This record gives sequence, structure tokens and C-alpha cells, in this order.
Amino acid sequence: MNLEVDFAGIKLKNPVTVASGTFGYGREYSDFYDLGKIGAIITKGTSLKPKNGNRPTRICETASGMLNSIGLQNPGVEYFAKYDLPFLRKFDTKIIVNACGSSIDEYVELCKILNTLDIDGVELNLSCPNVKEGCMAFGNTYEGVKKVTGEVRKVLDKPLIVKLTPNVTDIAGIAKGAEDAGADAISAINTLLAMKIDIETKRPVLANNTGGLSGPAIKPVAVRMVYQIANAVKIPVMGLGGITNGEDAVEFMLAGAKAVSIGCGNFIDPYTAPKTVKGIENYLNRHHIEDVNDIIGKVQMN
Ligand SMILES: Cc1cc2nc3c(=O)[nH]c(=O)nc-3n(C[C@H](O)[C@H](O)[C@H](O)COP(=O)(O)O)c2cc1C
Repeated sequence: MNLEVDFAGIKLKNPVTVASGTFGYGREYSDFYDLGKIGAIITKGTSLKPKNGNRPTRICETASGMLNSIGLQNPGVEYFAKYDLPFLRKFDTKIIVNACGSSIDEYVELCKILNTLDIDGVELNLSCPNVKEGCMAFGNTYEGVKKVTGEVRKVLDKPLIVKLTPNVTDIAGIAKGAEDAGADAISAINTLLAMKIDIETKRPVLANNTGGLSGPAIKPVAVRMVYQIANAVKIPVMGLGGITNGEDAVEFMLAGAKAVSIGCGNFIDPYTAPKTVKGIENYLNRHHIEDVNDIIGKVQMN
């Protein structure tokens, strides 16, 4: 059986990756299993300079999901290159760096550095709802996405994946902005802007007041958006949002995703990603399908 997919020029041994911000730089999960079992690791959002992120409370649980307002805490690209990348490179898997900036210049400077590193691709985070400037500011219009993608494209030779926010009305139109500017792939979705209130204190639970909703609660929204994007662009789509098993992954692939990513699912069970690989295999066996590529986009609409 073939599980390999060519995702924007990155040869993934299987279509299962782990989502930015839910897997750190791999260390914690490497205690549980060989990280070479998964197709790729997408790192925590990494910026040009270190970032402390937002003050706590930064996460809380909700029905079938969670809210976070981490605010892109990370050690910066220099530290990543020196300490995290050599560790990640010990595993037989692809490494994709999630890149974050608060201005176009910052994205460009960061991607110039990423272009020189031994990594397999860059995922441009144009979608974080938890920082006051940047990311979202570019991510919610066709023009904004096209502009920042185009500037980064000029300095980045590696595969470029643009990660989109679901907090927009026309996700397919915005995905076109990335494609038109030369992106190699789209990933969708990031978290949905949300809020939880403590009724005793009458205050929002998160110090930032609002945060991003993720987990199984958002899966149907994500599947719908992946379907719409996959039908609007020619470049491949990485599908994510609430995936916790092989069946969820297959659903995204039928909707048009060429690869999938596990986010909060890693928190529920650290083995979710390798179990999802097995789950996809079981589905293919059950349906006598030899090649995982044969299920991509095969949903039959009513
Ligand atoms: C704690 C946490 C931190 C995150 N950090 C990032 C990040 O740094 N960059 C990014 O693009 N997405 C980030 N995300 C969004 C996830 O990568 C993913 O898009 C989202 O959680 C939906 O997938 P899920 O429902 O499987 O978790 C974060 C999500 C969580 C829960």
C-alpha cells in the first residue's frame, strides 16, 4: 500500500503531520514514539526575535475543544537554528517551520534566514488571532495575503505553504491570493476567534479576553473550508482542525486535502499522530484502495 504523498515538492512518507504550536519542537513527544513515524513536523510559530507571548491565563477548555491565546511565544529563529533544528534532524521526517511576523519586512527577514537552513519547507502563519499586530492583519484579505506571500516568495526558494485564518467570509477567494503570489500550498484552518466568560467573576477566562478555538468542535467548519479551498486553487491543501483519528483524516482528504495535520489531538493523546497513520491504513484496507492519493478530493457531492 502506498501512503506517500508529494506535498508541494515535499515527499511525505505518509500524509500525517503535526500542527504548529501543539508539538513544540518535537522534544516532548519524542519520549513517546519515534518521530520518524509521521510525515512531517510543523514547528511552533517562530519569529525573527524571541517572543514572550501573552500573559496567563492563556488556555482553557471548552465543549469538545479549547481556547488559546499564547501570543506566539517562541525562542526566535537564531535559537531554533542552533538548538532545535539539530534535534529535529535526528528523525527521519520532514521539518516545516511555521513562520510568524508583525510586518512584511519581518516576514521577509525571517524567511531570508529560513532559506539558508536545513529545513524542508516554510509555513507562513498569516492567521494568528492572538497577537495585536501582524499575522491576522495580512490574512483576512485577498490583497493582504497576496502582498506578503509575494514578498516572501522573492526570498524563499523552499516550498512555501500559506496558513489561512478561518475568521473570514470568503476563504476560497483569500486562498487564491496566496496561489496568485506563488505559494506552493495552502494550509487551513487556524483557530476560530472565540471567548469564554467566567460567570462568577463576570470576566473573560483568558487574560487576552479572546482566543482561538480549536479541537473537534471546529472540525465541520474546517472540512467545509478545506473543500472550498481545494475546489478554488490548483495547489495542494493541508487540512486541519479537530482531527483526532484516521477517520477524521480520511474525511479531510476526501474533501480535497493532500495532507493533514494533528493539533489539539496531540494533547488528548500523545500517540494520536501515529495512530492516525494506522487509521488511514485501515480505511484503505477496508476499501481495497492501494494508494492514499486515490482518495484525495473524492467526496461525491449530493
Ligand atoms: C496551544 C496552541 C498553539 C498554537 N500555535 C500556533 C502557531 O504558533 N502557529 C500557527 O500557525 N498555528 C498555531 N496554532 C493553531 C494550530 O496549529 C491549528 O491550526 C489549530 O489548533 C486547529 O487544529 P486542531 O483543531 O487540530 O488543534 C496553535 C494552536 C494551539 C491549540
